[in-house]
Amino acid sequence: MAKENCIISLQGVNKIFDGVTVVDDFNLDITKGEFVTFLGPSGCGKTTTLRMIAGFETPTSGKILLNGEDITRIPPHKRPINTVFQRYALFPYLDVYDNVAFGLKLKKIPYETTNRKGEKVTKYRHLTRDEICDQVMRALKIIDLEDLKNRDISTLSGGQQQRVAIARAIVNKPAILLLDEPLGALDLKMRKEMQLELKEMHKKLGITFIYVTHDQEEALTMSDTIVVMKSGEIQQVGTPTDIYNEPVNAYVANFIGESNIYNATMVGKLKVKFLNKVFDCVDDFPLNEKVDVVVRPEDVEMTPIKKEPKATDLVGKVATKVFKGVHYEYILMVGKSEVVAQSTKDYELDSLVSIEIAPENIQIMKKELTKNVYPEAYLDNKNRLVISDATFDVDVTQLLKGSKVDDGDYLVLGDQKYDLDDADVIAEIGLDKIEILDGYDRGNANGVIISTIYKGDHYQVMIRTDEEEDFIVDTQDTWNEGDQVSVVVKPKDISIVLKGDIKKYAVEN
Ligand SMILES: Nc1ncnc2c1ncn2[C@@H]1O[C@H](COP(=O)(O)OP(=O)(O)O)[C@@H](O)[C@H]1O
Ligand SMILES: [Mg+2]
Repeated sequence: MAKENCIISLQGVNKIFDGVTVVDDFNLDITKGEFVTFLGPSGCGKTTTLRMIAGFETPTSGKILLNGEDITRIPPHKRPINTVFQRYALFPYLDVYDNVAFGLKLKKIPYETTNRKGEKVTKYRHLTRDEICDQVMRALKIIDLEDLKNRDISTLSGGQQQRVAIARAIVNKPAILLLDEPLGALDLKMRKEMQLELKEMHKKLGITFIYVTHDQEEALTMSDTIVVMKSGEIQQVGTPTDIYNEPVNAYVANFIGESNIYNATMVGKLKVKFLNKVFDCVDDFPLNEKVDVVVRPEDVEMTPIKKEPKATDLVGKVATKVFKGVHYEYILMVGKSEVVAQSTKDYELDSLVSIEIAPENIQIMKKELTKNVYPEAYLDNKNRLVISDATFDVDVTQLLKGSKVDDGDYLVLGDQKYDLDDADVIAEIGLDKIEILDGYDRGNANGVIISTIYKGDHYQVMIRTDEEEDFIVDTQDTWNEGDQVSVVVKPKDISIVLKGDIKKYAVEN
């Protein structure tokens, strides 16, 4: 059932293109007047979802309701919905006023009249010149371009052109405005300004905004509600604070901002072990449960170590340091693990610090046993995937659509090259994609079987390597605890996402 005051309800919406599911069982209720943002990496299905709401695409299955009425098959022009695209499609030969007025000149509105027989009938008429002028000027006022109304589009800056596009979309007073990466073509400064303006505009207009972006900062600053998406599926729906503070899984935590994410184990009541140390925490999980832990950099407390560290201290060594205006951002090495930390205090490179994390700042998330997730994986100089002491061949072209790997092991798209040596990635391997072979040194990793659970029609086996990395495998075969085995995974069965933007790895030609 749709919630109260719900304007748009997507119910079990799926979209399949050429046999590929790009939107997968999408369920979402959007409240009247809400500012909702779809957030996710390129290709995750944001635009397709928006186009289904607008009516440019029809769902393969599922329903879309507008104010409770099924509009799944109603054409776009009959929906009270307008869209602003990234590439503003303005008419270059018309001035600002005429660009905004264009749609209004075509529009017909109903009016009641009586015919010759004295019966009430509904007829349609065009808007009068004055009515059009009224509405155009109101829209131009909202976007603050009244003074430029007679300017040719070609004489406007990118930001001004995008404002005209927005005026054109709101002049019809739609109930819902869809914005598909509308600021994507603007430079950073202009984008920041427009973010604030759009937010203001949303308040003034009081209409529902559905906004699409791949930029988490933009989503966090502008939205009432964020919908985090991945591969066509909703990962989490919540307020910016919810999503930032309480991400439901490692993917969301990573996507929504710089985070420390660790594999951890519950080792006692409200005690969790990671970075080889036991921390107090506030989330109650069963003993021995494998969990993911997220700690925000601003929640890592650093104090200088004067003399010898105490045995109970968690000690990190300052490996890198960047001044960020108000604070420094540090990467601390704890053994082979990295801890990203922020502090206003200035620490020398290579100095030792004691690290503390308050229990309430340790966010614990149930590990999803639907697949193996490795949040601390990276690529080596041969584009192999390294997960602690395990190495896998992997298809890195999945990081960039249409790319290839050249003879020098660079990833290439068009004439841009990327060097992925040392690139941090999150890797995922399906539970049924891992082959177990008897004995060591026969595959990608060696490990010992530490548990096998019968799941009704198959066994779920957990294999742990020397470096305490776990591989969970669904298999028909029976294995015994303590068996020494090798783990094998085919390259095509490993999926990886980069932490951070691929631009970071671009090589100058
Ligand atoms: N008309 C189409 N035909 C076939 N595939 C499409 C079509 N539109 C989008 N796709 C595919 O659907 C996936 C999601 O695309 P899209 O919704 O544009 O993602 P986003 O907006 O999140 O970047 C992509 O893999 C894209 O190539
Ligand atoms: Mg898109």
